[in-house]
Amino acid sequence: MAEELGFERSSIREVGRLLGALVASRPNGKLAEIGTGTGVGAAWVVSGMASGASFVTVEVDDDRAAVCARLFADSPNVRVLHGDWHKVLPPEAPFDVLFFDGGGWKRSPPAQMRAESERALELIAPGGVVALDNLTPEHLWPADGPRWPDALREFWLGNDALVATEVLTTPDSSAIVAVKR
Ligand SMILES: C[S@@+](CC[C@H](N)C(=O)[O-])C[C@H]1O[C@@H](n2cnc3c(N)ncnc32)[C@H](O)[C@@H]1O
Repeated sequence: MAEELGFERSSIREVGRLLGALVASRPNGKLAEIGTGTGVGAAWVVSGMASGASFVTVEVDDDRAAVCARLFADSPNVRVLHGDWHKVLPPEAPFDVLFFDGGGWKRSPPAQMRAESERALELIAPGGVVALDNLTPEHLWPADGPRWPDALREFWLGNDALVATEVLTTPDSSAIVAVKR
């Protein structure tokens, strides 16, 4: 489906396995994804989730939301929501696991990145976990880039409300896993 729709931003397998492990740890959890894309990360979530868990994934793009709704139509406890997560997800919260993967917020100016991050964190239950992927790790940080640690690390790794770590998913990309206290 990604190829058919010319979509090139699907999650890599290593991130998929991370998502699978996170959701499997919450057998009765409420699971969510911001930014369904063409359903690659969602498929990993669905593969890893237990029958007692429920999963919502939200996608703003019409075509991507439609194909993913069809893809998961027969999956129990899985819903593909069409719309902007800021409007669609709050009534579904709180979540035990969130893959925060849509909206370009990671590369937004710091104030906007923090505001978006705060809004996502409002959706998380105590003890809930947020995963962020496709980050540039420190050893590949561009010399002419923002200072290290950047605003995103300061927010997610230096936040007293969170217990968080950054892990390499491949030699040249990383993910943050953050648990809300
Ligand atoms: C990186 S891709 C998602 C990849 C997908 N999570 C996966 O694992 O393959 C980001 C997606 O977020 C969607 N998106 C962007 N802004 C959004 C918003 N405000 N609400 C919901 N989805 C959004 C984009 O249309 C895009 O499909």
